[in-house]
Amino acid sequence: MKPIRVGILGVGTVGGGTYTVLKRNQEEIARRAGRGIVVTMIADKDLDRARSIAEGGETVTDNAQDVVNNPEIDIIVELIGGTTIAKDLILAAIGQGKHVVTANKALLANHGTEIFAAAREKGVMVAFEAAVAGGIPIIKALRESLTANRIEWIAGIINGTANFILSEMRAKSLPFAPVLEQAQKLGYAEADPTYDIEGIDAAHKITIMSAIAFGIPVQFDKVYIEGITKLTQEDISYAEELGYRIKLLGITRRVEQGIELRVHPALVPTSRLMANVEGVMNAVVVKGDAVGATLYYGAGAGAEPTASSVIADLIDVTRMQTADPMHRVPTLSFQPDLLSDTPVLPMD
Ligand code: HSE
Repeated sequence: MKPIRVGILGVGTVGGGTYTVLKRNQEEIARRAGRGIVVTMIADKDLDRARSIAEGGETVTDNAQDVVNNPEIDIIVELIGGTTIAKDLILAAIGQGKHVVTANKALLANHGTEIFAAAREKGVMVAFEAAVAGGIPIIKALRESLTANRIEWIAGIINGTANFILSEMRAKSLPFAPVLEQAQKLGYAEADPTYDIEGIDAAHKITIMSAIAFGIPVQFDKVYIEGITKLTQEDISYAEELGYRIKLLGITRRVEQGIELRVHPALVPTSRLMANVEGVMNAVVVKGDAVGATLYYGAGAGAEPTASSVIADLIDVTRMQTADPMHRVPTLSFQPDLLSDTPVLPMD
């Protein structure tokens, strides 16, 4: 079967990671997807950066629309970010019947309703696991694994940069500014780091999770948002002395009047698991009526953790294109071409 052809828009931290992991794990990815997944075009406003990524002779352009317009491309991976150009490109891709994989939480939190309506009309998929909590498969958990539940609440540390800053300020007594700079260098922060430190990025993510969990339209404008910029070293040390750690939490829950959405720093007792989620790690607790509380933990930002989610979506979309139903269900299959040839070792 012919490989599925992918065009990547934007090869910054996550785009670069996606390209690298797709190449490195290409055989396993092809086996799991039922066919190869190949990047054939890369667009980036910085042509040198795009050229330095494209090792495999992929076509490189600084005009993302060229990628969207290319009839040879089956799936568009949008990693440009922002809510203007990215929106136009995604709507154009959908308009041409292409599937879209995106990590763009700002776009989905603000314009998700329009984008998903367009996708539904065209019968294409818009997949967005990478938009929330980096490498943690929280979207899949909410949409698939927990789908039998009436969700009661979701609470989590969902911004890696803010958590990294708070952790480093506490553990190393470092001031705010240089730690933020480090988070930027490590590729954790948004293009505009205000989004991370003012709680806006976390608000985008809680908006998306809330929409899935409660079946409501995305309503970013309803989120109460308070970031971490007003916190001082003293706040952090006093909290510690009193047995608490300050964490930036995103919370959404059912209340009598409707659905509450909020992002703010909170005092978490140090004995609680959530207080011990450090650095770039994220953790999300989802409480369902049937399952009870479930916990999801992992890297919330960074090139390869986020690429892991982007590629999982690429594989999902590819599976859906495959006629063979065994490939469409992401479950253990005994088809010979899915079996690994790694020997199973006997126990001593
Ligand atoms: N800037 C985001 C964060 C990236 O720090 O969590 C992942 O969404």
